[in-house]
Amino acid sequence: MHKAFRSAAAVATGFVLIAGAVPAALAAHQATPKLVGKAAAGKSVFVSTCAACHTLKAAGATGPIGPNLDKTPLAESVIIAAITNGGATVMSKAAVAKYAVPMSAYKGSFSTAVIQNVAAYVYTSTHK
Ligand code: HEC
Repeated sequence: MHKAFRSAAAVATGFVLIAGAVPAALAAHQATPKLVGKAAAGKSVFVSTCAACHTLKAAGATGPIGPNLDKTPLAESVIIAAITNGGATVMSKAAVAKYAVPMSAYKGSFSTAVIQNVAAYVYTSTHK
């Protein structure tokens, strides 16, 4: 939207303060999310473990077996649950039915910290 139009619309509707303040606050929030995991530490695990099945542009991953992670930006907590208990546990039955090979639960093979780091990496890669 053109700036002039947005200002005019804001004045016209009486929301000039809100219109200016809210998007700025949202932008700041999105730029600095408080993540549980450390994204930088999660990339190598994503590449070695998840990339074979998932597409994630930031990782150069083009795996065709599971959902394209770029298509559905998820909350970090949801990604943590997907890795911990298996992707199907955070999806509807109808969505899961599209995939022939199920994703494993990683709670037996990765520590909580490693799972959190991978989730933070997926989160930051899909929220830009
Ligand atoms: C063997 C292939 C495979 C591997 C390896 C794999 N996944 Fe999955 N993933 C899937 C499939 C298939 C689904 C869809 C649910 C199902 O059928 O289990 C899924 C679902 C998901 C979802 C939910 C997506 C949505 O749109 O709701 C996330 C998030 C996810 N995987 C992340 C990961 C991460 C991170 C890793 C690495 C730790 C990983 N997956 C490893 C195949 C895989």
